[in-house]
Amino acid sequence: MKLVFATNNPNKLKEVKALVPPHIQLLSLEDIGCTEDIPETSPTIEGNAIQKARYLKETYGYDCFADDTGLEVDSLQGDPGVYSARYAGEAKDANANMDKLLDNLKKKKDRKAQFKTVIALHINGTLETFTGICSGTIAVQKKGDKGFGYDPIFLPDGYTETFAELPLEEKNSISHRAKAVNQLVKFLNN
Ligand code: IMP
Repeated sequence: MKLVFATNNPNKLKEVKALVPPHIQLLSLEDIGCTEDIPETSPTIEGNAIQKARYLKETYGYDCFADDTGLEVDSLQGDPGVYSARYAGEAKDANANMDKLLDNLKKKKDRKAQFKTVIALHINGTLETFTGICSGTIAVQKKGDKGFGYDPIFLPDGYTETFAELPLEEKNSISHRAKAVNQLVKFLNN
């Protein structure tokens, strides 16, 4: 089975490839010659995942899936949420995003947060979604050099290390994305 994973993010591709069995061959956007930015203008994480999967199917004709992720912080009423990528501006700069979040949490006692991933699968003319959540807290400073995005400031529940300090296999055993991908694989196997 061939499926396109609608992402330009090499880190996401690496994480997902490690979770998908070999009989599901993953193609990247590069593999199908898609170089443009895929529109994601929905006000929800689920809406963006669906929008990306639909765009790819309608424009390129491939069965595919897309992932959209947000970091939801309790004491900020769920921010940055769907705006996680552009939290500190259009440059989508991970360090600037983390600095802004750490700054906004300086005076807050409650640092609880969760990563939420929604995967939208477009296959055989139908659309399915799968949601994965990973709960944790926002650290007081950045730590670690693995992973990407907000990983250096996210402490998953039950761990003293941030996602950026954990090996990929460890992140993949508990992460929001892994939980959504595991549901996707189960669906495809049925
Ligand atoms: P998107 O799903 O690529 O739109 O991601 C939204 C934002 O969340 C971007 O700033 C990403 O870098 C960040 N992000 C997505 N997934 C993860 C993750 O697994 N760890 C840390 N940050 C992430």
